[in-house]
Amino acid sequence: MTTPDQIEPGAPARSDFARDFLWGCATSSYQIEGAASEDGRVESIWDRFAATPGKVRDGSSGAVACDHYHRWEEDMGIARDMGLNAYRFSIAWPRIMPGVGAAPNQQGLDFYSRLVDGMLERGIQPWATLYHWDLPQYLQERGGWAERDTVQRYLEFVDAVTRRLGDRVQHWITHNEPWCTAILGNFEGIHAPGLTDFRTALQVCHHVLLSHGKAVPLIRNNVPGARVGISLSLHPLRAASDSAADRAAMERHDGLRYRWFLDPLHGRGYPASTLEQIGDAAPVVHEGDMEAIAVATDFMGVNYYFPETVADAPGHEPLDARVLPPPAGAETTAMGWEVAPEGLGELLGRIHADYAPQELYITENGSCYDDEVLADGTVNDVQRRRYLARHLGAMKDAIAAGVPVKGYFAWSLVDNFEWAEGYLRRFGLVHIDYKTQQRRLKESGKWYRAFLRQPT
Ligand code: FCB
Repeated sequence: MTTPDQIEPGAPARSDFARDFLWGCATSSYQIEGAASEDGRVESIWDRFAATPGKVRDGSSGAVACDHYHRWEEDMGIARDMGLNAYRFSIAWPRIMPGVGAAPNQQGLDFYSRLVDGMLERGIQPWATLYHWDLPQYLQERGGWAERDTVQRYLEFVDAVTRRLGDRVQHWITHNEPWCTAILGNFEGIHAPGLTDFRTALQVCHHVLLSHGKAVPLIRNNVPGARVGISLSLHPLRAASDSAADRAAMERHDGLRYRWFLDPLHGRGYPASTLEQIGDAAPVVHEGDMEAIAVATDFMGVNYYFPETVADAPGHEPLDARVLPPPAGAETTAMGWEVAPEGLGELLGRIHADYAPQELYITENGSCYDDEVLADGTVNDVQRRRYLARHLGAMKDAIAAGVPVKGYFAWSLVDNFEWAEGYLRRFGLVHIDYKTQQRRLKESGKWYRAFLRQPT
């Protein structure tokens, strides 16, 4: 039999990692579930945004997506057959909380309860993300995350979910990628709710971080033995040149992209240099907020895709710095993202050196390619397979260098609704035929399965 490292030379073996290392895949509710108006689910900001002409590239939405709401048993069967021992999913707030002051929707809670039972029956550890961008639209109408009251509404949602699932789910991620929530959604306007105001974006960011900080003790209170963390999207940074101007631009960018999140989460407050640069766009912060945000967590989730190269760009909002396309000749995915496994090691090493979180999990990492189903029904995604193998190698090296990485979640289990790109972008280890909803394990998924079948 050919071994995984014969297929991908240089790939690590499963036994290079700890026996209790977690091997999973990740997804999110809006991207896979569909069933947008079933069983009491209300509208989310993504339903509204996708329905707005010009916002999603192929004019699609998550209304049906992978129909996971009805096909979750098949999907969990695939996850088990692949050999996953963990699965990261997210809970759709609009399925649980139908309105301000309304009681939690039992049908929504029942769905996740069945899903969690289905994972446990298959030997898969559930990792629940509490916010992966699908805010109820009724809250956006009251100001969304820019409104402080949304923190309270989030805590009610978290309370309902953790009371119901806390007897079976121990691992909780409060937020997925607050930078994207804040900046892509409220400054760049390319994600829901599609606003383009920097001050609003920073206020959103503050409330998201605050809601994280306040959710941690609540979750611990409701869930015996809870392990709680947050997932950040992070990039190793490179200056476009050695010039003082480019290096200073990289520092400014870093302040907002990395330290703006990691510093307050680790009790250091917002970085002083960035506060100075943003001037009156700084968020309104109440007494006690920074202490709440700095609550100790059990792990840090890192979502890594690619490095960023930053150049000085006078006049480029908000910090006179611009992220450049990958350097000429660099290997890229179909998203145009640079393939740089060494960047993962660099990033992990930096986080470890700067903040030393007790445990790190790669909560997302993956690649997009234009997959095709061949006549024999296979999907020969050798580039994704190689991307996966090389990133596992980089992770192994980071662990050997002392970074306490305890698990890896590939993005994604299945192809899905890739936000503003619609269904044009495939990231799955499993191919979805959106006409028939047929699932097919790609070669990358088969490789992951072979990797996981090796002795621990
Ligand atoms: C991340 C998101 C995830 C998916 C991947 C490709 O930023 O968390 O939902 O879109 O990118």
